[in-house]
Formats: sequence, structure tokens, C-alpha cells
Amino acid sequence: MQEAAKPVTYGASERPPRGDYARARADYTCDQGWEEYSADEHDRYARLFARQMQHVEGRACDEFIAALSRLGDAQGIPRFEDINTVLKPATGWEIVAVPGLIPEREFFTLLANRRFPVTYWLRTEAEFDYIVEPDLFHDLFGHVPLLFDPVFADYIQAFGAGGLKAQGLDALEYLSRIYWYTVEFGLMDTPQGLRAYGAGILSSVGELEHCLTSPEPNRVAFDALRLMRTRYKIDTYQETYFVITGFDQLFEATAVDFTPYYTELRDLPELAANAVQPGEVTYSANPTAA
Ligand code: PHE
Ligand code: CO
Repeated sequence: MQEAAKPVTYGASERPPRGDYARARADYTCDQGWEEYSADEHDRYARLFARQMQHVEGRACDEFIAALSRLGDAQGIPRFEDINTVLKPATGWEIVAVPGLIPEREFFTLLANRRFPVTYWLRTEAEFDYIVEPDLFHDLFGHVPLLFDPVFADYIQAFGAGGLKAQGLDALEYLSRIYWYTVEFGLMDTPQGLRAYGAGILSSVGELEHCLTSPEPNRVAFDALRLMRTRYKIDTYQETYFVITGFDQLFEATAVDFTPYYTELRDLPELAANAVQPGEVTYSANPTAA
């Protein structure tokens, strides 16, 4: 998530690659349209997958690695229904196709019902290394493996329900930070060292190495209230990552009623994306291979 977005042009033979909201239903889900993917797109997906596979080894948490093979053989773009055949019996989740980013209420409602929205279109060749918005590769490779983990699966559902609640309490900004710093950019402390579990990291080449080994960013022990005070960057690598000790800790720390937190947060100053508070527990970077 580092390079600036480059202007993109599409070849005449390429179908319009961006989401077509006209084909979405009232809940913003749509058909995947698997038959419409071109041979180029299947090939591009296979190359994206193969490249990222090499990077996640030793960098992603075990739960992620263990589930990756359940996305299919990765020779081409999988049919969502085939993934659901395996995913549904595992944790009760299913993936549903969407045209791209969807409104918050519909997003939270899907999650609260154990339905994870996956963008149906794939980035173009020009965007192979970097894309500004979530596409099929980010959503599928980054997010879907952890839906196979029972505790993380429950966490995402609870987040969806919490999102609907936060909307009523006018606290969406605080809750969005939870999603950002956990589901997208979360790190986990393991006996083997720090590992990534956030999809924004796991679907990126550069940030995956940076977040684990660079001396630059802060790696702060997960604390829900502290996290919700912290702003985040959307156009550079993160300046702070929050580190959990496992999905049980994450689930338990966020299972409490957030209503009093929201009240408290309104009177607390926000923290900059690069802030470290006195006395705070931080983690150092993983040693780099000699
Ligand atoms: N427990 C939170 C609440 O009461 C909901 C939530 C769950 C928030 C999981 C974030 C993650 O609002
Ligand atoms: Co994402």
C-alpha cells in the first residue's frame, strides 16, 4: 500500500473491470458471474496467488496458512459456490459476491449474518502490484482463509452486530478503527515471533515484510480503548500496528459492551497514527534472516 496510484487504461478486449452496481440486489449482493472471467483474468489470479503464497510462509499466522489450501487449487479464479461448500460446514460462514465497496449498514448486516462480501472483479494487469480499492484478490486471499477459524469467524460476526449498534450510538468512527487495526492490519505475537493476520497486510507484498521487520513502526499491545483513540493512515504503510496474543484474546477483549467506551472516548483526546504513550507495552521487530 505504498506506491501512488497510477492512471489505468483498459484494453479494448477487456470487459469493464470495475463493479457494476446495476447488477446488485437490494442487499448489494450479486451473482459472481464466473463464466464471464476471461482467460487473462484466471491467469492473473493464479499468478497473484502463487506470488503471495511465497510471501506468507513464515509471515502469516498459522491459522491463515492452514486454511489457504481450502480456497481451491488456485489455478484460476474459484467459483464462490465451491468455496462455500467447504466453508459453510466449517464455520457456518458463506461468501457472497458484491460489486465493490458497499454502504456500512449493508456491510454490517451481511457480517452479522455470517455472510462475507467478496468483490467479484479482479484488478487489471497494470494494478498487479498495487491497487487502491479492495478487489477479488484482496478479499478472497486476504480475508476468506480466517473465516475458517472458529474464533475469528465468531469475531467477525460480533463485529458486524457491533457495527449496527455503533451506528445507533453515532460511534462508527471508533468502531471503524477496530476493523482497520485488526481485520485489515492486525499482528499476532506467537512463539515463533510476530506474525500477520490482517488482510490488508497479507494481500500486500511490501507491507507484509515491513510490518514484521522494519524498525520504523510502533507495535503496541492490543487494547481496545487505546486502539479506538488512534487515527490511521490510508495512503502509506501503517505507523502503528496493534499486537494480539491470539484470537481468543481478541474475541474476549471486544465481547464487552462498548457503550461505556464510546462515552469515555468522546472526552479523551485522539492519538496520532504514530503516537506511543508512556509506559505502553510495545514489541520489537522480528529479526531479519542473516
Ligand atoms: N462488543 C462490541 C459492542 O458492544 C461489539 C464488537 C465486537 C466490536 C467485536 C468490535 C469487535 O459494541
Ligand atoms: Co479488506
